[in-house]
Amino acid sequence: MDDTTKSRAAPPAARTPDTQTVTDVRHWSEWLMSFRCTRPASLRFRSGEFVMIGLPGDNGKPILRAYSIASPCWDEELEFYSIKVADGPLTSRLRHIRPGDPLILRPKPVGTLVLDALLPGRRLWLLATGTGFAPFASLLRDPETFERYEQVVMMHTCRTADELAYGRELVADLTRDPLLAEIFGEGIADRVLYYPTTTREQGPRMGRITDNLTSGKAFADMGLPPMDPAVDRAMVCGSLAFNLDVKAVLEGFGLTEGANSDPREFVIEKAFVGEGV
Ligand code: FAD
Ligand code: A2P
Repeated sequence: MDDTTKSRAAPPAARTPDTQTVTDVRHWSEWLMSFRCTRPASLRFRSGEFVMIGLPGDNGKPILRAYSIASPCWDEELEFYSIKVADGPLTSRLRHIRPGDPLILRPKPVGTLVLDALLPGRRLWLLATGTGFAPFASLLRDPETFERYEQVVMMHTCRTADELAYGRELVADLTRDPLLAEIFGEGIADRVLYYPTTTREQGPRMGRITDNLTSGKAFADMGLPPMDPAVDRAMVCGSLAFNLDVKAVLEGFGLTEGANSDPREFVIEKAFVGEGV
């Protein structure tokens, strides 16, 4: 990618289970970045879960925030995909991190966007806006996703095209993923349907996920039948308003919401907590 800046250092040893070391940082735009860090040997997680990460504050007290782990559960490092909020307590500091810097990590992964929270099905829909792509960056790189589903549809919507760059590159790289290729061969590309759209910038595909599903445009464009609770499963990650609207759309197709303790046809997680929510 020539529209990103990239810096890399040889990964130093992890410090303690709670303090990891940044190994790689990429800035995708003024408002988006991704980074990798060492992984504590004791950390086990399911692809799609989130943890608390942070940096020391001025008073020495850590500033911690929830972050989806964007790397799959088999990866020897951890990857995160982050917003850069202009005056955000954590991200105004996080935006300056470099390889070699310490990163606080509370190794207690949780979350509902996990394969076990869904009943078996044939097609998995991953529906995200903005940084809600992060948990799906993990699931898309996990072979278990493709062991459980014949087809995975990744719908990602952002206001502008530059916000789609991280997801676009990740999906393109799936065909070069050595683990997926070893297990599934070259056929992996045919099993992922990628449907990126913008809403506030002209582009090849446009529109909100909700509108593209209810109008039938997404199904027509991808040559798929409308969602059917017998075969279709979905995971949703975006703002509260997005999640509520998608939930109504999925319920309109007859799918019901599940949880870790009660697997059903779709699961939802907030990509962030908005002002006053
Ligand atoms: P905060 O004080 O936390 O937020 C300030 C304001 O910025 C918020 O009120 C909201 O309006 C806005 N905002 C915060 N995060 C986002 C976002 N991601 N997208 C759009 N607007 C936002 N953030 C990530 O960047 N990547 C993740 O993978 C991620 N996973 C999360 C998982 C969960 C379950 C939850 C609850 C939140 C997640 N977040 C994620 C949000 C994250 O916890 C922080 O809010 C974010 O890093 C900003 O921190 P801050 O201290 O700079 O600002
Ligand atoms: P739009 O530009 O039409 O508001 P945001 O940055 O506000 O979180 O939005 C990220 C993306 O999610 C934008 O493309 C936005 O479309 C879309 N979006 C926001 N709210 C909803 C919603 N309630 N239903 C569907 N899409 C939404």
